[in-house]
Amino acid sequence: MHSIAVIALKGGVGKTTISLGLAGAAMQQGLRTLVVDIDPQANATLGLNPPKFRFTSSDVLADAREGVAGDAVVPSGWGEGVDVIPAESALERRNTPGDAESALRLRRSLRGVADSYDLVIYDCPPSLGEITRNGLAAATHGLVVTEPGYFSLRGAEQALDAIGVVRDSTNLRLRALGIVVNRMRPRVREHRSRLAELAQAYPQLLLDPPVPDRSAIQMAQGAGVPLHVLGKRSAGDTARAFSELLDQARSRMQPMTIKV
Ligand SMILES: Nc1ncnc2c1ncn2[C@@H]1O[C@H](COP(=O)(O)OP(=O)(O)O)[C@@H](O)[C@H]1O
Ligand SMILES: [Mg+2]
Repeated sequence: MHSIAVIALKGGVGKTTISLGLAGAAMQQGLRTLVVDIDPQANATLGLNPPKFRFTSSDVLADAREGVAGDAVVPSGWGEGVDVIPAESALERRNTPGDAESALRLRRSLRGVADSYDLVIYDCPPSLGEITRNGLAAATHGLVVTEPGYFSLRGAEQALDAIGVVRDSTNLRLRALGIVVNRMRPRVREHRSRLAELAQAYPQLLLDPPVPDRSAIQMAQGAGVPLHVLGKRSAGDTARAFSELLDQARSRMQPMTIKV
């Protein structure tokens, strides 16, 4: 089982969009996927449209007993294959800084729950605070999202640093999966030069392709459906980009083979 914490320094760069895009691609590929919404804004929950739920990631973090996250798992509205642990605004109260032990609450609560999925995606809040630390402590991989703008390089660097801090303090197995550029408009020169800058700074980490800026993404999120069922050509193209990203991510997540 692989698990990806999707992180960024700030809001609005596309963490939820990448989380949902990868979940849609995983669904198309027949992977059993769990999306854990740990952003108090609960946008992933809206996008995944679960018909009903009782418990949220806020309850899970408050309780934190081993395996308790299982009580909060519900089917998404997307159909077979994608489940969700929803979020709610009360989760914000769990974002106060704790100690190394408190960063492990989410991980403990998911013990025995995450194992029944091929892929677990943590959609993190827009800061590198306590909740994001919990996401990174629970995950095997951290995925950094950035826009092709003025702060993209610096922002990616800080997010990668955060992955390093959690690895060294609480989660030795944690690896940086890569950097994904979102809302790319190839015709904008600034976007091309920021992408080139990232490619130069992080040749091993920059994932390909960047996710294009497409209104189909917003339509799918608003309708609470995965991109690939939207039936628009631009949605199909974008869904394919997510599929390529997922393939690349999965090939990077294969356990290393040790040669003797
Ligand atoms: N590639 C994209 N194309 C079009 N709209 C996008 C794209 N990525 C994000 N958006 C829109 O921008 C807004 C913020 O994106 P979101 O994924 O919610 O960011 P975050 O989770 O980092 O706060 C949302 O309304 C989303 O639909
Ligand atoms: Mg979000």
